[in-house]
Amino acid sequence: MARLVLPTLLFSLAWLSCSGDRSGNLEIDPLIYEEQLLWVSGAQGAVNTYRIPLLTFTPKGSLLAFTEGRKESASDVGAKFVAMRRSTDKGSTWSPTVFILDDGLAPNGLNLGAVVVDEEFGSIIIVYSFCFHEFQCKPASTMMVQSLDDGLSWSKPRNLSRQLGVKAFAPGPGYGIQKKYEPAKGRLVVCGHGTIEGDGVFCILSDDHGKNWYNGAALKSIPYNQPKKNLDFNPDECQPYELPDGSIVINVRNQNNYHCRCRVIVRSHDGGLSLPIDDVTFDYELIDPVVAAGALEKDGIIFFTNPLNLSQRVNLTLRWSLDHGKNWEKKAVQIWQGPSAYSCLTSLKSGSPEDRKYIYLIYEKGHKVSDETVSFVKIHLYGGR
Ligand SMILES: *[C@@H]1O[C@H](CO)[C@@H](O)[C@H](O)[C@H]1NC(C)=O
Ligand SMILES: *[C@@H]1O[C@H](CO)[C@@H](O)[C@H](O)[C@H]1NC(C)=O
Ligand SMILES: *[C@@H]1O[C@H](CO)[C@@H](O)[C@H](O)[C@H]1NC(C)=O
Repeated sequence: MARLVLPTLLFSLAWLSCSGDRSGNLEIDPLIYEEQLLWVSGAQGAVNTYRIPLLTFTPKGSLLAFTEGRKESASDVGAKFVAMRRSTDKGSTWSPTVFILDDGLAPNGLNLGAVVVDEEFGSIIIVYSFCFHEFQCKPASTMMVQSLDDGLSWSKPRNLSRQLGVKAFAPGPGYGIQKKYEPAKGRLVVCGHGTIEGDGVFCILSDDHGKNWYNGAALKSIPYNQPKKNLDFNPDECQPYELPDGSIVINVRNQNNYHCRCRVIVRSHDGGLSLPIDDVTFDYELIDPVVAAGALEKDGIIFFTNPLNLSQRVNLTLRWSLDHGKNWEKKAVQIWQGPSAYSCLTSLKSGSPEDRKYIYLIYEKGHKVSDETVSFVKIHLYGGR
């Protein structure tokens, strides 16, 4: 009996591994599978402008989209909601908008923020800042909220400045990571930037699933804590991702166009404790109009989104690298040729053949200006195959 069963079993295993190994066998050939506007500025009462979109997977395989709902104007300062929509069917349909945070009345002002998923613990954490710009309010605080039920409910805000010290820190915007590889497997790493004078890339870390946070790496601007001039070294908004060798790469906005009109790349080899100046490079291929960009590692391939233009926030484009960011493939995919600005990438992590085929993007998109809408895009990586 056993002899008869075995060949069938071997055959099915071989078939499974072939059909499952999409990234190994097929060339990356991204195709927009579907696009939906999740938020339209001015369309719903109470909110003037939606800006700063974040997107994440959850441990249960849902997608969560977040954005600031700026109550009175498009300005970075002033009172805001954090709006959320949730999809349990891989982006086809979305829940109605819920406001998971409300900072009250002006002059208050929260700012998003970084969303980080703790896959080991099963939680979703949002780290955001409050009064970052110290516009008629102070001091700046670093805050967090957490969900233990796939984004359905959220904890009360917790003030992390008690652990981190009082400092203006703007996480992301984008996602934070949980280390998958040594060193510091399991650590939560959230990176962001400081105020323009005290700018730089700073990471905060937690080794106990977000209970305690401490200050990790700092890559300071030059001249630090002093007014900046054009072309000064001023690393700003940033998106980290982990490579399979356990190092963390941070793709950074080059605020004052130091050295190039392109992205600054920094790297940590010790799980986010340090960002050595020796590892700071400039990616001349990733030209950038000074903006927050999306970056993602998936199955060994690095994806990157930004408005691909030297000075204007237009032409949102998806690019990818097969050698961990050393080179970018010539073939790029234009997502939207018009005004477009901040973007964030994610993917589902089940490892199923279905989840390996897609990445998901959220970005600011408009006709006249980029903050007219927040748009979600599901991207098929293998041209529909
Ligand atoms: C957060 O805690 C810090 C340090 O105790 C304090 O200065 C700040 O006012 C607090 N922020 C908020 C929003 O409660
Ligand atoms: C948009 O990007 C494409 C590359 O995808 C480039 O060829 C084109 O010149 C860009 N257009 C603008 C207006 O930036
Ligand atoms: C940038 O966009 C402008 C239009 O907004 C276009 O004229 C210009 O050629 C673009 N530059 C690059 C480098 O794509």
